[in-house]
Amino acid sequence: MASHSLLEGKKGLIFGALDESSIAWKVAEQCHAEGATLVLTNAPVALRMGKIQQLGKQLNALVVPADVTRPEDIEALFQQTLEHLGGPIDFMLHSIGMSPNVRKKRPYYHLNYDWLYKTLDISAVSLHRVLQQAWHMDALAEGASVVALSYIAAQRTFPSYNDMAEAKALLESIVRSFGYHYGKRKGVRVNAVSQSPTPTTAGTGVPGFDSFLAFAEKNSPLGNASAEECARFCVMLFSDYAAKVTMQTLFHDGGFSMVGISEDIMQLFSEAYNH
Ligand SMILES: NC(=O)c1ccc[n+]([C@@H]2O[C@H](COP(=O)([O-])OP(=O)(O)OC[C@H]3O[C@@H](n4cnc5c(N)ncnc54)[C@H](O)[C@@H]3O)[C@@H](O)[C@H]2O)c1
Repeated sequence: MASHSLLEGKKGLIFGALDESSIAWKVAEQCHAEGATLVLTNAPVALRMGKIQQLGKQLNALVVPADVTRPEDIEALFQQTLEHLGGPIDFMLHSIGMSPNVRKKRPYYHLNYDWLYKTLDISAVSLHRVLQQAWHMDALAEGASVVALSYIAAQRTFPSYNDMAEAKALLESIVRSFGYHYGKRKGVRVNAVSQSPTPTTAGTGVPGFDSFLAFAEKNSPLGNASAEECARFCVMLFSDYAAKVTMQTLFHDGGFSMVGISEDIMQLFSEAYNH
């Protein structure tokens, strides 16, 4: 893994590495390669089912269980993180998403509202909860960088993305609002990275994921961005090279978000209609 020591001496907290396919897993590996010291966290059930302990050993990182819907878990997480790192946190990755409505195949016009609130709580309000806890414990260093992962369904309709679209819209709004307050208070940067479809546990749980992936690949001049490429982009945002970037949704999608229709897609349609 190529390294430029971009995060030498920095301390990070990474949410959401479940297995090798997770975007957070790749981010953790790249941050470690760039010289950072890490704490990894995930829900208690993910610690039992996933492989995060293996990653912890590989990166010499502390692994702490925390369900992001439980304030007491988040407080304990920050206590242990600050103690382990021996000082404030320089960067944080929020890489968390889950929708019971998607999981249980409820269509958008037949949502279970308790599940909708769960989707919003886990996938979006959790960012607020984490930042608010960090604020009250003064856990983030001056000029720290926070990145949350998002998807273009926050801006445009992708029907099978379902209520996760609402969650991503809320997440990006929290990025802006907390980005303002934390920027004023401590020069902390908060950004969202809107990533291409990526074959992970959460990604492949969206109905029709393979079509999403293939369509985005053909509609993006650079092709889809991989999890490894996303990791390198996150490292750049955590580094001092992005010192004045904040409150943004940054599209890391090979150009997908700026294309109406590509020649490749037109070709596919003309073939389909001419036969
Ligand atoms: N895969 C894609 O196509 C894609 C595209 C754009 C954005 N994203 C976003 O990237 C992020 C990471 O997803 P991924 O694709 O790497 O999948 P993933 O399944 O590997 O990661 C999702 C993580 O959320 C964690 N999580 C769920 N409920 C939790 C809770 N209550 N407390 C703490 N953690 C909890 C899971 O354990 C898991 O580690 C998500 O925000 C996702 O929406 C994914």
